[in-house]
Amino acid sequence: MTETETRDLLVKLSASLFARGFSVGSAGNISVRLDDGYLITPTNSSLGRLDPARLSKLDATFAHLSGDKPSKEVFMHRAFYTARADAGAVVHLHSTMATAVACLPDVDTGNPIPPLTPYFVMRVGRTMPIVPYYRPGDAAMEPAIHAVAVHARAVLLANHGPVVAGKTLTDAVYAAEELEEAAKLYLLLRGASPRLLTPAQVDDLLSTFG
Ligand code: 13P
Repeated sequence: MTETETRDLLVKLSASLFARGFSVGSAGNISVRLDDGYLITPTNSSLGRLDPARLSKLDATFAHLSGDKPSKEVFMHRAFYTARADAGAVVHLHSTMATAVACLPDVDTGNPIPPLTPYFVMRVGRTMPIVPYYRPGDAAMEPAIHAVAVHARAVLLANHGPVVAGKTLTDAVYAAEELEEAAKLYLLLRGASPRLLTPAQVDDLLSTFG
Protein backbone atom coordinates (compact mmCIF):
# COMPACT_ATOMS: atom_id res chain seq x y z
CA MET A 1 0.00 0.00 0.00
CA THR A 2 1.37 3.46 -0.89
CA GLU A 3 1.57 6.22 1.71
CA THR A 4 -1.28 8.04 -0.05
CA GLU A 5 -3.46 4.92 0.12
CA THR A 6 -2.54 4.47 3.80
CA ARG A 7 -3.46 8.10 4.57
CA ASP A 8 -6.81 7.65 2.83
CA LEU A 9 -7.53 4.38 4.65
CA LEU A 10 -6.68 5.91 8.04
CA VAL A 11 -9.10 8.78 7.40
CA LYS A 12 -11.83 6.41 6.19
CA LEU A 13 -11.54 3.98 9.11
CA SER A 14 -11.36 6.84 11.64
CA ALA A 15 -14.51 8.41 10.19
CA SER A 16 -16.28 5.06 10.39
CA LEU A 17 -15.32 4.63 14.06
CA PHE A 18 -16.51 8.17 14.81
CA ALA A 19 -19.78 7.74 12.92
CA ARG A 20 -20.61 4.67 15.00
CA GLY A 21 -19.81 6.34 18.34
CA PHE A 22 -16.55 4.55 19.10
CA SER A 23 -15.03 8.00 19.51
CA VAL A 24 -16.56 11.38 20.39
CA GLY A 25 -15.26 14.93 20.30
CA SER A 26 -11.51 14.91 19.77
CA ALA A 27 -10.97 11.71 21.76
CA GLY A 28 -8.77 8.91 20.50
CA ASN A 29 -5.78 8.69 18.23
CA ILE A 30 -4.62 6.25 15.55
CA SER A 31 -1.17 5.55 14.11
CA VAL A 32 0.23 3.33 11.38
CA ARG A 33 3.76 2.21 10.57
CA LEU A 34 5.18 3.20 7.17
CA ASP A 35 8.37 2.01 5.47
CA ASP A 36 10.12 5.23 6.54
CA GLY A 37 8.32 6.16 9.78
CA TYR A 38 4.77 6.55 11.04
CA LEU A 39 1.55 8.47 10.48
CA ILE A 40 -0.47 9.55 13.52
CA THR A 41 -3.60 11.62 13.98
CA PRO A 42 -2.93 15.25 14.95
CA THR A 43 -3.55 16.38 18.53
CA ASN A 44 -7.07 17.70 19.22
CA SER A 45 -8.35 16.42 15.88
CA SER A 46 -11.70 14.67 15.58
CA LEU A 47 -11.53 11.14 14.17
CA GLY A 48 -14.67 12.09 12.25
CA ARG A 49 -13.09 14.91 10.24
CA LEU A 50 -9.45 14.12 9.44
CA ASP A 51 -7.67 15.53 6.40
CA PRO A 52 -5.29 12.99 4.81
CA ALA A 53 -2.82 15.73 3.84
CA ARG A 54 -2.62 17.07 7.43
CA LEU A 55 -1.95 13.80 9.27
CA SER A 56 1.24 14.03 11.35
CA LYS A 57 4.20 12.22 9.83
CA LEU A 58 6.92 10.98 12.18
CA ASP A 59 10.32 9.58 11.23
CA ALA A 60 11.54 6.16 12.34
CA THR A 61 12.62 7.65 15.70
CA PHE A 62 9.14 9.17 16.23
CA ALA A 63 10.32 12.75 15.60
CA HIS A 64 7.74 15.02 13.93
CA LEU A 65 8.53 15.50 10.23
CA SER A 66 5.46 17.06 8.62
CA GLY A 67 1.74 17.66 8.93
CA ASP A 68 -0.09 19.05 11.96
CA LYS A 69 1.24 18.75 15.52
CA PRO A 70 1.04 15.05 16.48
CA SER A 71 -1.15 13.51 19.17
CA LYS A 72 0.13 14.09 22.70
CA GLU A 73 0.01 10.28 23.05
CA VAL A 74 2.83 9.51 20.60
CA PHE A 75 4.70 7.76 23.41
CA MET A 76 1.67 5.50 24.02
CA HIS A 77 1.87 4.33 20.40
CA ARG A 78 5.67 4.10 20.56
CA ALA A 79 5.34 1.77 23.58
CA PHE A 80 3.53 -0.75 21.36
CA TYR A 81 5.80 -0.38 18.30
CA THR A 82 8.95 -0.85 20.38
CA ALA A 83 7.46 -3.74 22.38
CA ARG A 84 5.97 -5.64 19.44
CA ALA A 85 7.67 -6.29 16.10
CA ASP A 86 4.25 -7.40 14.79
CA ALA A 87 2.60 -4.01 15.49
CA GLY A 88 1.81 -2.27 12.20
CA ALA A 89 -0.83 0.07 13.61
CA VAL A 90 -2.16 1.22 17.00
CA VAL A 91 -5.65 2.44 17.88
CA HIS A 92 -6.49 4.31 21.09
CA LEU A 93 -10.15 5.06 21.85
CA HIS A 94 -12.27 6.22 24.77
CA SER A 95 -15.01 3.82 23.66
CA THR A 96 -17.70 3.66 26.32
CA MET A 97 -17.89 -0.01 27.35
CA ALA A 98 -14.15 -0.68 27.41
CA THR A 99 -13.65 2.53 29.37
CA ALA A 100 -16.40 1.47 31.79
CA VAL A 101 -14.51 -1.77 32.48
CA ALA A 102 -11.34 0.31 32.95
CA CYS A 103 -13.15 2.20 35.75
CA LEU A 104 -14.30 -0.87 37.72
CA PRO A 105 -12.39 -1.36 40.98
CA ASP A 106 -13.19 -5.04 41.44
CA VAL A 107 -11.89 -6.62 38.22
CA ASP A 108 -8.84 -8.79 37.61
CA THR A 109 -6.34 -6.15 36.46
CA GLY A 110 -4.26 -8.88 34.81
CA ASN A 111 -7.13 -9.85 32.51
CA PRO A 112 -10.46 -8.14 33.24
CA ILE A 113 -12.47 -9.51 30.29
CA PRO A 114 -12.70 -13.31 30.14
CA PRO A 115 -12.81 -15.27 26.86
CA LEU A 116 -16.52 -14.96 26.07
CA THR A 117 -16.42 -15.12 22.26
CA PRO A 118 -14.04 -16.43 19.57
CA TYR A 119 -13.55 -13.09 17.81
CA PHE A 120 -12.39 -11.34 20.97
CA VAL A 121 -9.75 -14.03 21.42
CA MET A 122 -8.81 -14.03 17.70
CA ARG A 123 -8.51 -10.25 17.40
CA VAL A 124 -7.39 -9.15 20.85
CA GLY A 125 -5.66 -12.28 22.17
CA ARG A 126 -5.46 -14.16 25.42
CA THR A 127 -4.93 -11.25 27.79
CA MET A 128 -5.69 -7.53 27.97
CA PRO A 129 -4.28 -6.18 31.25
CA ILE A 130 -5.20 -2.89 32.91
CA VAL A 131 -2.38 -0.32 33.17
CA PRO A 132 -2.68 2.03 36.18
CA TYR A 133 -4.06 5.55 35.68
CA TYR A 134 -1.84 8.26 34.21
CA ARG A 135 -2.90 11.73 33.07
CA PRO A 136 -3.43 11.83 29.27
CA GLY A 137 -0.19 12.90 27.67
CA ASP A 138 1.93 11.81 30.67
CA ALA A 139 5.08 10.26 29.22
CA ALA A 140 5.45 8.14 32.37
CA MET A 141 2.80 5.91 30.81
CA GLU A 142 5.24 4.68 28.16
CA PRO A 143 7.31 2.24 30.26
CA ALA A 144 4.17 0.97 32.00
CA ILE A 145 2.50 0.21 28.66
CA HIS A 146 5.69 -1.18 27.12
CA ALA A 147 6.14 -3.71 29.93
CA VAL A 148 2.63 -5.07 29.31
CA ALA A 149 2.63 -4.77 25.50
CA VAL A 150 5.50 -7.25 25.26
CA HIS A 151 2.95 -9.92 26.27
CA ALA A 152 -0.36 -8.40 25.12
CA ARG A 153 -1.76 -6.89 21.92
CA ALA A 154 -4.12 -4.65 23.89
CA VAL A 155 -4.28 -2.86 27.23
CA LEU A 156 -6.93 -0.92 29.12
CA LEU A 157 -5.70 2.35 30.61
CA ALA A 158 -7.40 2.72 34.00
CA ASN A 159 -10.20 5.34 33.90
CA HIS A 160 -9.15 6.30 30.37
CA GLY A 161 -9.69 3.72 27.62
CA PRO A 162 -8.30 0.94 25.44
CA VAL A 163 -5.15 0.84 23.31
CA VAL A 164 -4.78 -1.98 20.81
CA ALA A 165 -2.19 -2.95 18.21
CA GLY A 166 -2.72 -4.89 15.00
CA LYS A 167 -0.55 -6.16 12.16
CA THR A 168 -2.26 -3.70 9.80
CA LEU A 169 -4.43 -0.63 10.21
CA THR A 170 -7.52 -2.64 9.38
CA ASP A 171 -6.55 -5.36 11.87
CA ALA A 172 -6.02 -2.81 14.64
CA VAL A 173 -9.41 -1.19 13.97
CA TYR A 174 -11.15 -4.57 13.88
CA ALA A 175 -9.48 -5.45 17.20
CA ALA A 176 -10.62 -2.16 18.76
CA GLU A 177 -14.18 -2.89 17.63
CA GLU A 178 -14.13 -6.46 18.97
CA LEU A 179 -12.66 -5.20 22.23
CA GLU A 180 -15.54 -2.76 22.67
CA GLU A 181 -18.13 -5.45 21.91
CA ALA A 182 -16.48 -7.88 24.33
CA ALA A 183 -16.53 -5.19 27.04
CA LYS A 184 -20.25 -4.69 26.35
CA LEU A 185 -20.94 -8.42 26.64
CA TYR A 186 -18.89 -8.62 29.81
CA LEU A 187 -20.89 -5.78 31.40
CA LEU A 188 -24.20 -7.28 30.22
CA LEU A 189 -23.27 -10.65 31.70
CA ARG A 190 -21.76 -9.46 34.99
CA GLY A 191 -23.22 -11.55 37.80
CA ALA A 192 -24.76 -14.05 35.37
CA SER A 193 -21.99 -16.71 35.51
CA PRO A 194 -21.77 -17.02 31.71
CA ARG A 195 -20.21 -20.05 30.08
CA LEU A 196 -16.65 -19.10 29.02
CA LEU A 197 -14.53 -20.55 26.26
CA THR A 198 -12.34 -23.24 27.77
CA PRO A 199 -8.52 -22.95 27.80
CA ALA A 200 -8.44 -25.66 25.10
CA GLN A 201 -10.87 -23.68 22.93
CA VAL A 202 -8.75 -20.52 23.39
CA ASP A 203 -5.59 -22.46 22.45
CA ASP A 204 -7.36 -23.85 19.38
CA LEU A 205 -8.41 -20.35 18.24
CA LEU A 206 -4.94 -18.90 18.72
CA SER A 207 -3.16 -21.77 17.00
CA THR A 208 -5.63 -21.69 14.08
CA PHE A 209 -5.92 -17.90 13.62
CA GLY A 210 -2.72 -16.61 15.18
P1 13P B 1 -4.81 13.82 21.26
O1 13P B 1 -5.89 14.74 20.72
O2 13P B 1 -3.56 14.58 21.64
O3 13P B 1 -4.53 12.70 20.29
O4 13P B 1 -5.36 13.17 22.58
C1 13P B 1 -6.63 12.57 22.56
C2 13P B 1 -6.72 11.45 23.53
O5 13P B 1 -7.43 10.50 23.27
C3 13P B 1 -5.96 11.53 24.79
O6 13P B 1 -5.91 10.28 25.39
